Amino acid sequence: MTLSLQGTLGIDFGTSNSAIAWADTHGSARLIPLEGQATAMPTAVFYNSEDLSIHFGRDAVTQYLEGAEGRLMRSLKSLLGSPLLLETTVVNNRQISFQDIIATFLATLRERATQALGAAPTRVVMGRPVHFVDDDPERDAQAQASLLQAAQAVGFTEVSFQLEPIAAALDYERRLDKESTVLVVDLGGGTSDFTVVRLGPERMTQADRTQDVLATTGVHIGGTDFDQKLSLEQVMPLLGYRHLGPQGREVPSRIFFDLSTWHLINWLYQPRALSDAQALWTNYTDARLHQRLMHVLKHRLGHRIAYEVEQAKIRCSQQDGDTVLDLSEVEANLAAPMGVADMREHLAALLARTVACARECVQKAGLTDGALDAIYLTGGSSALRPFQRALQAEFANVPLVEGDLFGGVASGLAYTRS
Ligand SMILES: Nc1ncnc2c1ncn2[C@@H]1O[C@H](COP(=O)(O)OP(=O)(O)OP(=O)(O)O)[C@@H](O)[C@H]1O
Ligand SMILES: [Mg+2]
Repeated sequence: MTLSLQGTLGIDFGTSNSAIAWADTHGSARLIPLEGQATAMPTAVFYNSEDLSIHFGRDAVTQYLEGAEGRLMRSLKSLLGSPLLLETTVVNNRQISFQDIIATFLATLRERATQALGAAPTRVVMGRPVHFVDDDPERDAQAQASLLQAAQAVGFTEVSFQLEPIAAALDYERRLDKESTVLVVDLGGGTSDFTVVRLGPERMTQADRTQDVLATTGVHIGGTDFDQKLSLEQVMPLLGYRHLGPQGREVPSRIFFDLSTWHLINWLYQPRALSDAQALWTNYTDARLHQRLMHVLKHRLGHRIAYEVEQAKIRCSQQDGDTVLDLSEVEANLAAPMGVADMREHLAALLARTVACARECVQKAGLTDGALDAIYLTGGSSALRPFQRALQAEFANVPLVEGDLFGGVASGLAYTRS
C-alpha cells in the first residue's frame, strides 16, 4: 500500500540555494532538513569524474573545492529561458543537457522530502521570480515551462507556481499581529523581486488573496551579478582584463565576463574555448598575466575564484570592513583587495537599478511611503550592507525588518493555496 500525503510541498529552487517546506492541510509549514540539520542547500551539482559519483549541495561544493576531478554546476536557474538550457555537455561519460541536470537536482529534493515525510509528496508549489528573463515574455514563459517539465519528469504530479516575493510575504504574515501594508523585498542570487501586499491575521484565513497583492515588480539582478562585477573589477585585471597589448589595444574582454559569470564558467573549459584563450597571448604585453589566465582555465579554477569573490563580498558586508581575497591557487602569494569603498563604488549602478525597481513597485501600488508599515527583507543578498543603505536612503521613514534569509520563500510556498 502506498501512503498518500495530504498537504503541500513548497519548493524554492533558488539560483544559489534551495529549500523545501511542508504544510499539512491545517498546520503550519516546516522546513525540511536537506543536508544534516541544514534546511537550505546550495543549488549545486558536482559530477566526480574519478569515481563517476554525483554530489549535491554543500557536498558538491566541498568536492570541487577540495580538488576532486570533475564538473561543478552552479546557478542552474540562470539558464532557464536561455537556449543554453538544452545544450548538452559530456559529464561522467554521458551526454546530458542542463535541463536534465536541473531535473536531477529536483529529484534529490524530492527524495529528501520523501525520506523526511515517509511518503512521496505529490502536490507541489514551486516558486518563480517575477521575471525569469527581463522584457521577454516568451522566454519568460519558456523558463517556467522548462521548470515544470523538470518537476514532472521526476514524479511531481500536481505542480503549480507562485511568485517568490508573494510566498515570502505569506511567511512574514504569520508573525504579524495587526493588519499591515508591507513592501516585501526578496534579493537572492539571480533576481530581485518586490511586492506590495496587505497582510494581517484576518486576511490570512482567506483563500483568495489576489486583492491583497497591490503590485509586483522584479529585475534580473542578484548576488551572482554582484559577484560578477566585483570579480571583473578586483580580480580579472590580474588575468589581463583591460590590459593593453603591444598595439595599445585592450585584450578582448569577453572571456573575462564569462569567467566571472557563475553559469557560464563551464563553457570555457571546452577544447575550442581553451584554444581560443591560448591564442589571446598575442594581445598581451605582460606574458605572466596570460599564463595566469591559462592556469585558471586548465586547472578549472573558475568556480574557485567566483567562490572566493563571493566569500569576500559577504565578509566585507558583514564586518563592514576591508578584506582580502586569497588567490594563491592561481599563483603563489597572489591576492586581491576587497574594500568597503570598492564594493560601494562597483555595486552602485546595480544597486541603484534594484532600488529603482522597489520604488516602481510602490508607485504601481499607488502608495506613498507614509502608507507603508514596513519593508520586509528576505533572500541572502538582502543582507548586503550597501544595499540596505541604498534602500533606507530611498525610503527614509519606513522601518526595515530583517527576515529569514534562506527559508522564508519555501515556507510561504507551502502555505500557498491553489
Ligand atoms: N551576509 C550576506 N551578505 C551579502 N550577500 C549574501 C550574504 N549571505 C548570502 N549572500 C548572497 O545571497 C545570495 C543567495 O541568496 P539566496 O539563497 O536568497 O538566493 P536564491 O534564492 O538562491 O536566488 P534567487 O531567489 O534569485 O533565485 C548569494 O549571491 C550570496 O552571495
Ligand atoms: Mg530566492
